[in-house]
Amino acid sequence: MKAIEVKHLTFSYDGRVNAVDDISFTVEQGEVFGFLGPSGAGKSTTIKLLTRLLVPKANRVFVLGQDMAKADYRFMRRIGIAFENDVLYPELTGFENLYYHAKLYGIGKQEIEEVMKMLDILDARDKPASQYSKGMKTRLVLARALVTKPQILFLDEPTSGMDPDIASYVRKVLKELNKNGTTLFVTTHDMHEAEQLCDRIAFFSSGKIVAVDTPESYKKRYGESRILFQVGSDSLQIDRKDKEELLKLIKQDQWDSIHSQEATLEDIFIKVVGRGLKEGDEL
Ligand SMILES: Nc1ncnc2c1ncn2[C@@H]1O[C@H](COP(=O)(O)OP(=O)(O)OP(=O)(O)O)[C@@H](O)[C@H]1O
Ligand SMILES: [Mg+2]
Repeated sequence: MKAIEVKHLTFSYDGRVNAVDDISFTVEQGEVFGFLGPSGAGKSTTIKLLTRLLVPKANRVFVLGQDMAKADYRFMRRIGIAFENDVLYPELTGFENLYYHAKLYGIGKQEIEEVMKMLDILDARDKPASQYSKGMKTRLVLARALVTKPQILFLDEPTSGMDPDIASYVRKVLKELNKNGTTLFVTTHDMHEAEQLCDRIAFFSSGKIVAVDTPESYKKRYGESRILFQVGSDSLQIDRKDKEELLKLIKQDQWDSIHSQEATLEDIFIKVVGRGLKEGDEL
């Protein structure tokens, strides 16, 4: 059984522009699958359709074999959902926020504390959520998603607003969960996040999947490595394949240093999609 199967899924908020425009893809169990795309691409809309926060048309979205247009409350326990701008109860403590969610599913205090510990927010257990920093709130939302021990986690920009150390810690936790069998579906506009976390990445832009591949394979297919010759404050970039030019420059011996530069996933995104990952980053 596939973890996720999406067939020709389209969604429009206003009946005119498609926020999600005829996408199809599958995610295997145990995989980390990422949607990488710029702001407004339709990433959050997609994840809402996958988790029934927006109700998809029947026969378009299957999660663990379940048609999500007909998923009920019992099924929802098997999936965990963490959104970028998720709603917490600000007056309740971190623990209480998790407790009210966990209680619905008969989950006890010990499990809640275990999850808080795993995400390094147990010290803030009794603080109101309103006093959590942005990165702590994101971890609290993640803790809420994890408390039912879901088979699949849906994560919308999971490290948004976190400082780099905490972001890397959270990615480590996510990788560990994946190693223990949890399937992850992740959206991000951060190429490093996509590259570090994902087994496969869909390049996503204007509601459409433009390509799906592994990070290594993208680099092999589209990446060009270049050699950088530094001469004083000037630099000269040469295509690695241009052996003749490379040898000529080396023999001329007028350089201060030579570096090799691999194409980044963002370079490849621009090449394949025709725009960058940041706003206004059109070609
Ligand atoms: N509730 C809504 N009503 C109307 N239009 C919406 C709504 N939510 C999103 N949109 C529009 O749908 C498109 C896709 O938005 P979405 O939030 O899915 O993008 P995103 O890729 O998650 O962006 P970001 O990286 O900024 O979170 C955008 O054009 C957005 O303006
Ligand atoms: Mg979004």
